[in-house]
Amino acid sequence: MSLLKVQNLTTYYDTSAGYNQALESISFDLNSNEILGLIGESGCGKSTAGYSLMRMVERPGQIMGGSVLIDGLDLLTVDNATHRKLLWKEIAMIPQSAMNALDPCYKIGAQILEALKIHFPQMSKEEGMNRVHSLLEMVGLNSRIAQTYPHKLSGGMKQRAVIAMALACDPKVIISDEATTGLDVLIEAQILAILRRLKKERGLGIIIISHDLRMVTTVCDRIGIMYAGYLVEIGSTDEIKHNAQHPYTKALFSSQIDMNDFNRRVDSIEVVVPKSINPDDLCRFFSRCKEKVDVCNTPPPGFTSISPTHAVACFKEVLASGK
Ligand SMILES: Nc1ncnc2c1ncn2[C@@H]1O[C@H](COP(=O)(O)OP(=O)(O)OP(=O)(O)O)[C@@H](O)[C@H]1O
Ligand SMILES: [Mg+2]
Repeated sequence: MSLLKVQNLTTYYDTSAGYNQALESISFDLNSNEILGLIGESGCGKSTAGYSLMRMVERPGQIMGGSVLIDGLDLLTVDNATHRKLLWKEIAMIPQSAMNALDPCYKIGAQILEALKIHFPQMSKEEGMNRVHSLLEMVGLNSRIAQTYPHKLSGGMKQRAVIAMALACDPKVIISDEATTGLDVLIEAQILAILRRLKKERGLGIIIISHDLRMVTTVCDRIGIMYAGYLVEIGSTDEIKHNAQHPYTKALFSSQIDMNDFNRRVDSIEVVVPKSINPDDLCRFFSRCKEKVDVCNTPPPGFTSISPTHAVACFKEVLASGK
């Protein structure tokens, strides 16, 4: 069942140098009981995508167009009161550097309770605290943590507390933006296990934003590859791992070190930072692409289907499909 339908989502930042075209017409669906990974290099627009999905882009950012359908409503066009009701109840986000999202002046329990009060104003304090305790236990924390200030917690504990906060209103969709970046591998594994358990037990749709290809291919059911604001390929994890079609996806995989084969050649991608402020009107991977053909010197194509679950936005595939 589709929980989220994203179409042509486009977000720009208005800078003194011109519009930074950070997110360019991305489209995808998210199903219940599914983890979708969004992966790409730093600055390719992953966090912008997350905030745009929540309609929480701050100035100088501006959502320029598209739709985010959730529960039959377009999150981007509903009035502010409906938007407030949908946020955290239907769709919630664990922001990048989530551990810094906690207010140092308030105890963990009070901060989660605050989120609950907004959506369930009729909830008594006792009911609220019971819910806080069960949320903390759900993410593997002792409920006594509710009475603790954030500075007393380790990084992994703070991260779990923020996950508990994101889960407070029982959302159907969770966006996790680099939720495990900077944590040691053991804590990372524990947090990913929590997300996987939530998907299984509650049928959640989860978007994991990351630049960690190894983690994403281990945890996600499907993967979308982003490059310079574009979603350039999307498919099941197997399809992306074993049958990648976009030259950028292929380059990304061949730049990984294979722990089982140290003799395998590790390729690098030429260091040309893609221009997203006033970019040329052509494929943004053009200058780095090892497979470019003449037609690539034109605006990039939309998706070509490789299979019912696998699609790529590349002229090579358009030519191969004869369309
Ligand atoms: N507040 C802002 N003002 C101007 N430009 C911004 C702003 N926030 C992001 N950008 C630009 O938008 C583009 C996408 O940034 P974004 O933070 O979404 O990338 P990202 O993929 O999440 O990167 P990272 O992996 O480093 O977190 C970048 O070119 C960035 O410089
Ligand atoms: Mg980011």
